[in-house]
Amino acid sequence: MLHTRICDLFGIAHPIVLGGMGGGHTAAPLVAAVSNAGGLGVLGATGFSAVNVQKQIEAIRAATDKPFGVNFLLFLTEEAGLTPAFQSRTPVMSYAWPRHDQDLRPYVQRAHDNGSVVMHMVGDVPEATRAAEAHVDVIVAQGTEGGGHVGWMASMPLVPMVVQAVAPVPVIAAGGIADGRGLAAALALGAEGVLLGTRLLATTESPIHPNFKQAIVNSDGHDTTISEIPDIASRIVWPGAMARTLRNRFIEQWAGREWDLRRRAGSILAAVQAARAAGDAENVPLFVGQDAGLIDSVLPAGEVIRRMVEEAEQIITDRLPAISRAR
Ligand SMILES: Cc1cc2nc3c(=O)[nH]c(=O)nc-3n(C[C@H](O)[C@H](O)[C@H](O)COP(=O)(O)O)c2cc1C
Repeated sequence: MLHTRICDLFGIAHPIVLGGMGGGHTAAPLVAAVSNAGGLGVLGATGFSAVNVQKQIEAIRAATDKPFGVNFLLFLTEEAGLTPAFQSRTPVMSYAWPRHDQDLRPYVQRAHDNGSVVMHMVGDVPEATRAAEAHVDVIVAQGTEGGGHVGWMASMPLVPMVVQAVAPVPVIAAGGIADGRGLAAALALGAEGVLLGTRLLATTESPIHPNFKQAIVNSDGHDTTISEIPDIASRIVWPGAMARTLRNRFIEQWAGREWDLRRRAGSILAAVQAARAAGDAENVPLFVGQDAGLIDSVLPAGEVIRRMVEEAEQIITDRLPAISRAR
């Protein structure tokens, strides 16, 4: 049994968190499956209307009595979206990507006033320090290996740097983690647990199209890239992030022609939305981390968590002690 400070803080059995992936990449069944398996399920609320956020929270509560979280991309979030999450006393409020001039403290204070634990994701040490100074409860250090919007630092140096910079605030490692080896490594780096995106997208309960799950399984992890192409296509300027996606036809088509994409973004966006609905894995930006190379099947989320914990325990209790005993 692996037990860390985040298990007590969140009230969960295993130190494993679902990344609150917005834009419909998470929904109540996946969130509840992760929470029911002893992890922390987190709904990505960005892109949902306030009514939908409320409905999703009700659906999560109907499917689990375990703690869960709701995630907001702060630079895109308006008051209307946050209100249902605050009002329904969501156990964990999860934030990421504020603008550089955005004050975190009111978001943290309001969550605390409603009895929520606050988790905040960062991609570098200055952002981590800023979050600690705003009194967040847990910091997620996200490495550039991860799927979706990421910074420049890789998890291996970033996690211990953040742990050191914000101590005693607990840190969760994210980016490139898909199995028990990643969990054991994160704990060795000083993290109190892991947050998973790509691995939990390729699960039975994940709401994405089956073709997109299969694209993760098919990926060898070497075929991802970071670019601004998805953001130019959707006409959203992120505060300091690039997007890691599969290097599929869509990305190849626009790489080096970003100016043309910017000019034609309106019609391209409509085509992307149609391709997404059709499950066309070549003609959409598919946000996938390098850990896709570690994922070879679509599994129930509970099974992912069970295997991950078992493998990490085996490494920590058998393999590593055997190494340290060896002469
Ligand atoms: C499709 C997708 C959408 C994401 N959306 C969000 C989001 O809305 N909010 C957020 O905090 N993180 C988001 N992330 C980042 C994840 O929370 C997490 O940090 C990342 O997936 C970890 O890397 P991994 O994919 O290698 O596990 C997203 C990631 C993916 C793959």
